[in-house]
Amino acid sequence: MLGVVYTSFIEMVEEKFSPEIADQLLANPQLQYGGIYTAVGSYEHHDIIRMAIHLSEISGIPADDLVPAFGEYLFHQLVQRYPQMIEDCHSMLDLLQGIETSIHTQVRALYPSASLPSFECIREADNHLVMQYESKRPFVNLALGLIQGAANHYGQQYEIEVVRARDNEDNKASFYITTQP
Ligand code: HEM
Repeated sequence: MLGVVYTSFIEMVEEKFSPEIADQLLANPQLQYGGIYTAVGSYEHHDIIRMAIHLSEISGIPADDLVPAFGEYLFHQLVQRYPQMIEDCHSMLDLLQGIETSIHTQVRALYPSASLPSFECIREADNHLVMQYESKRPFVNLALGLIQGAANHYGQQYEIEVVRARDNEDNKASFYITTQP
């Protein structure tokens, strides 16, 4: 997992919780990389899951709420960092439809070591998109937050239905997204 995901997570904790809580998470002796991450580094994803669980324990906020909130924050950070990647997208669904074929393809070109999920997208109507997410990592909730981030970016309202391939499994799911006019 690219370090930018880690550095964004720490930044969110510092901003929305406190720098002390961020330090507390980074000092956890269970972390594989000793709590040291740089934006251009590359790391296994386990530390971020450990930190999210730890943050949930400290704050009392369920991880199922924290992870989507982080996805929303991360979307904003990614757009700040790579604005050119979405400059041809004019709506939330256009952007989401192009995740696999455009955005993540550009990410792969820049960072061959990036470990990205796969999204199969079917645009069933102008206002309706089906996305099938599959990953080696359990990040359905992160994807939900990123989708919310895209909606915020375009100021769009939407409804979403999430169907996991199996209960309690977060590696594979279908998202049925309908935007409102
Ligand atoms: C400006 C837009 C975006 C950019 C530049 C971007 C880029 C990235 C980058 C750099 C990573 C980390 C790759 C790695 O860990 O090696 C990532 C991961 C991920 N992205 Fe995107 N992304 C964008 C938008 C989105 C959106 C809107 C979604 C949701 C539909 C999404 C879904 C994901 C997920 C779920 C992961 C975690 C990896 C996994 O599940 O296996 N991304 N993305």
